[in-house]
Amino acid sequence: MREAGVNLVSLGIFSWSRLEPQEGKFDFAWLDRIMNLLHEGGISVDLATATASPPPWMSHAHPEMLPVLADGVRLWPGGRQHYCPSSSIYRDGTRRLVDALATRYAEHPALVMWHVGNEYGCHVPACFCDVSARAFRKWLTERYGDIAGLNRAWGTDFWSQRYSSWDEVLPPRRTPTWPNPTQQLDFMRFSSDELLECYEIEHRILTERTPNIPVTTNFMRFFKPLDYWKWAEREDIVTDDVYQDPLDPEAGMHAAMAGDLMRSLGHGKPWLLMEQSPNRVNWREVNAPKLPGQMRLWSLQALARGADGVMFFQWRQSRAGAEKFHSAMVPHGPTQSSPTWHEVVQLGAELRGLDALRGSRVPANVAILFDWESWWALELPSKPSNRIQQVAQLEAFYRPLFEANVTADFARPTDDLSGYKLVVAPSLYMVSDAGAANLAAYVEKGGNLLMSFFSGIVDVNEHIRLGGYPQPFVRVLGLQVLDWVPLGDSEKVAIEFADAGKGSNYRATGDIWAELIEVHGADVIATFASSHLNGSAAVTLNRFGAGTAQYVSTQLDPIALENLVRSACARAGVSPVMNVPAGVEAVQRDMADGSLLFLLNHGAATVEIAVPGGAVSLNGGKAMRDGRLHLEPRDVAILRRSEAGAPA
Ligand code: GLA
Repeated sequence: MREAGVNLVSLGIFSWSRLEPQEGKFDFAWLDRIMNLLHEGGISVDLATATASPPPWMSHAHPEMLPVLADGVRLWPGGRQHYCPSSSIYRDGTRRLVDALATRYAEHPALVMWHVGNEYGCHVPACFCDVSARAFRKWLTERYGDIAGLNRAWGTDFWSQRYSSWDEVLPPRRTPTWPNPTQQLDFMRFSSDELLECYEIEHRILTERTPNIPVTTNFMRFFKPLDYWKWAEREDIVTDDVYQDPLDPEAGMHAAMAGDLMRSLGHGKPWLLMEQSPNRVNWREVNAPKLPGQMRLWSLQALARGADGVMFFQWRQSRAGAEKFHSAMVPHGPTQSSPTWHEVVQLGAELRGLDALRGSRVPANVAILFDWESWWALELPSKPSNRIQQVAQLEAFYRPLFEANVTADFARPTDDLSGYKLVVAPSLYMVSDAGAANLAAYVEKGGNLLMSFFSGIVDVNEHIRLGGYPQPFVRVLGLQVLDWVPLGDSEKVAIEFADAGKGSNYRATGDIWAELIEVHGADVIATFASSHLNGSAAVTLNRFGAGTAQYVSTQLDPIALENLVRSACARAGVSPVMNVPAGVEAVQRDMADGSLLFLLNHGAATVEIAVPGGAVSLNGGKAMRDGRLHLEPRDVAILRRSEAGAPA
């Protein structure tokens, strides 16, 4: 580990059956030895609470703690994460174990962080058993007070679903056809909260025993089942697991987006890349290796996007078990002949030279609105089209920003948006009254909003907002949507943009979805030029108060969307971090006494970049000649600029 520059180790994540081989009987001898060994080697420990995989004796004695799927199938032990989040057997077991661990290691000098559970919800995001049903009823009672409140919120007069007592209420188990949509939505809210309560049970014990040790649990990028906005509030540091697919041509963009989300979840605070693979994983159909330099590229990219550290799953590749073909820092064979090991060692040495970035912040002038509850609601079944998917819609707007090297944060509709020059709202289907009012006030006070189709449709109960779509934004946008026109798989609509600048029009296409719009004061920027929509507005721009609100009623083709996003940035006064050749990502981190400019070449060609005057390369300074930097494919340069661009 010292050779690889390791200074922090996540320890004991799946070791409950070792730590507590029988109920109430603990064996810490082996863990003592490893904790001491690491400490003597100058390595700190992110100690796991080990609660992600209950030991076989527990489910053997109490099979009722095992999780149950919506169709009644029980999930058995033999894998991992086989617990019902509401089970008192599981919860009492975690209390006992965490208490014992925290008591034993509270004063251990190697302990610097607690790692609660592991990837909550990864395999079992929800349980539908009778115990869960009781917990769900309790959660609903707290939300609605009485059964009449629940009947109103769930709209139970539809299909004769009116409940006369709480005992009749169930999780959305497998039904003949769609279960009640609000029941499904509430069950997603409940399931995220119920797992969060498992985390909280452990968190409370840890903060009581070790008030100065930060607590985290590892996230999984855009993981649908858990509302990470809520979860992140309960963590001292946000940590994330990122497993890019080397076969994904947009892997760089996807990881940047995840990094921006993690930074935003912590409200700008540095986060930690908790897990990535040194080379290939074992869980895809085809597990392609990372190309030489790719692991370094993606590691440094996490730093660029606001991480203060980079870790791996896993240290040593196992001989046995389900993950023996997953790569590790230490491979099955000799380290000396392993290219992966050499890359790991090089990265460790390089990271040692980057201490200056710790604690620095990534500035962003653009916010993309993203709300887990709206995501859940948007993707419930029985919609005008199932082709509007939340993450794909976020990506559609993120992509041109990424390609233009404009850094974006993610934010909720209710967040303080006043610091952003541009706010993008991709298909924000569900919005609370407070969120809608906040967005309107943001524009009125001079903000710039870019909103896309099927936004503002329902309230928090998933009831349609009546009075004309998108009801809460009709005035802000200066239009009304009269009808939706979902498009088939291969169907496209033609669009004509009036290009005022050049005095000529240009054509684009729309995909997935279109809308029939009645303009109430907004300027028409583009019109549909085919189908029955011919001549009606496709893209509009409205002035509202001191700000602007742009609306896009279809999924524009990538070039048209890029033009639109660039012009929205220009209108809002948002400029790129730096103009660099295509394929190069440029991100800035601000320190107290200057900034760090990350230039990451995701492309397949060597590029030349004119570096800003006075910049000094932190990672080797290679190939800087005549103020030009030669960046090979997958290479990264980190340039330090002192205050006001003067030489550092
Ligand atoms: C997740 C888990 C690890 C391991 C890796 C494999 O990140 O946290 O335990 O299973 O996936 O990629």
